[in-house]
Amino acid sequence: MGRIDIICSHLPEADVFADIGCDHGYCTQYMLKNRRCRLAYISDISAGSLKKARTLLAREVEEGRCIPVVADGLDGVKECDLVLIAGMGGEEIVRILERGYLPKKFVLQPMKNSEKVRRFLIGRGCSITLDYTFEDGKFYDLIAGEAPSSKSAAADYTDWELRFGRDNLRSPSPAFLKWIRGEREKLRERLFSSVMSHESREELRKRQYELEVILDAIEGDV
Ligand SMILES: C[S@@+](CC[C@H](N)C(=O)[O-])C[C@H]1O[C@@H](n2cnc3c(N)ncnc32)[C@H](O)[C@@H]1O
Repeated sequence: MGRIDIICSHLPEADVFADIGCDHGYCTQYMLKNRRCRLAYISDISAGSLKKARTLLAREVEEGRCIPVVADGLDGVKECDLVLIAGMGGEEIVRILERGYLPKKFVLQPMKNSEKVRRFLIGRGCSITLDYTFEDGKFYDLIAGEAPSSKSAAADYTDWELRFGRDNLRSPSPAFLKWIRGEREKLRERLFSSVMSHESREELRKRQYELEVILDAIEGDV
């Protein structure tokens, strides 16, 4: 499966769905065509990007099932119960949720800085229900969960879970295993071939040690 299909497979049903940074609009197309939401917002900060989704979803827009908005983050979406923010950096995702709001359910796919996203969500008392790495040419993290409610228990993440993703440590996906083995190899090569300061070398050794510990734990279980 490709990245978009994988993201779609983790989108729960919703009443009002918001695809922030929708660009092409494929995820919203999936939600509407499969009747997984009543109403969908396609929102993008770039009018040019939004035009692609608007063209793809012209009929749904005409029917009033899809509302296109050019806006920063959630600015154009008064209310929604499911938000998707995919294909942006983790810092941008946090900024959007901080200055906007946390909908009841979220599916996030940061391109980098996933740890910052996890720290933000846990700090807000959210429960993260899915947090794993998948591969589609490159490695991607997918983080899904729910905003705090009286029923949901906030996740208590360890420092390593914040950095690597809880599901990756508890039940590692093949993609995570491949990623972490690749990282270990890259570190080995850098330590072997690069000239660097004592401090930098120690930093890399510390990271290498962490990866070894994780791999030992995983491979011990395989
Ligand atoms: C790489 S595309 C990702 C498109 C799609 N979500 C995906 O995952 O394939 C990032 C999109 O986010 C939009 N974007 C970036 N910052 C944004 C913001 N603050 N608010 C809304 N859209 C934003 C960009 O214009 C671009 O269309």
